[in-house]
Amino acid sequence: MNTYEALASTVIIGKENRLLSYDDSLQLVGTGRSAFVFKIKSTDKAMKIFFPRFTHLAKEEGEIYKILQGVSYYPTIYYIGKNYILMDFIDGHTLFECITYGEEITMEHIKEIDYALALASARGLNPSDIHLRNIFITSKGEIKIIDVARFRQEKDCVQWDYLKKAYQRHYVKAYFPKKIPAFILNTVAYLYKQELIPFYRE
Ligand SMILES: Nc1ncnc2c1ncn2[C@@H]1O[C@H](COP(=O)(O)OP(=O)(O)OP(=O)(O)O)[C@@H](O)[C@H]1O
Ligand SMILES: [Mg+2]
Repeated sequence: MNTYEALASTVIIGKENRLLSYDDSLQLVGTGRSAFVFKIKSTDKAMKIFFPRFTHLAKEEGEIYKILQGVSYYPTIYYIGKNYILMDFIDGHTLFECITYGEEITMEHIKEIDYALALASARGLNPSDIHLRNIFITSKGEIKIIDVARFRQEKDCVQWDYLKKAYQRHYVKAYFPKKIPAFILNTVAYLYKQELIPFYRE
């Protein structure tokens, strides 16, 4: 068993994907719908450990990261385990965090995200699941995109187009608050998913 395998095996996930315990050298930095993400303390690496029902995504996401290697907008992948992947830890804030902290998202950032997604398309991928928690602005002001597990799906994802429309129609306007509490942002996302905000579906 290698060190990473040993470390991954300390992460115990219980019923309903409750995180029960993990090694002291791990720091929980994020939770998604399919995984917990830890920083390995005193390194610059992150370990994404999939919930038991989603372990098959480790191979899928890992392989997609391999296709994207060399494109600076995506983290480097170091190892693909049975239920986890090891990649660069990204020091920064997701767009979701930027909005809740009132950190400005500029038109330059939006253009760079478009470019990063175009580079993935140029490698034969179909960027999908592009939402506010899957895009980072790093502490150096660079864009990084994570959570690429669905980049090989065939169905086209329109989330990023809708987010861009929302950015252009609302966020850039002077009246629009540049700092929005997380619960309001979550409520808007929820209403949108329930198709109760029809505006961008036109
Ligand atoms: N390499 C990383 N460096 C730093 N933080 C990360 C990294 N990867 C993920 N995170 C944090 O963990 C969260 C969950 O990770 P991720 O999006 O990969 O999980 P997921 O379960 O696939 O998500 P989703 O709910 O979007 O399907 C992210 O939103 C982010 O805040
Ligand atoms: Mg995610």
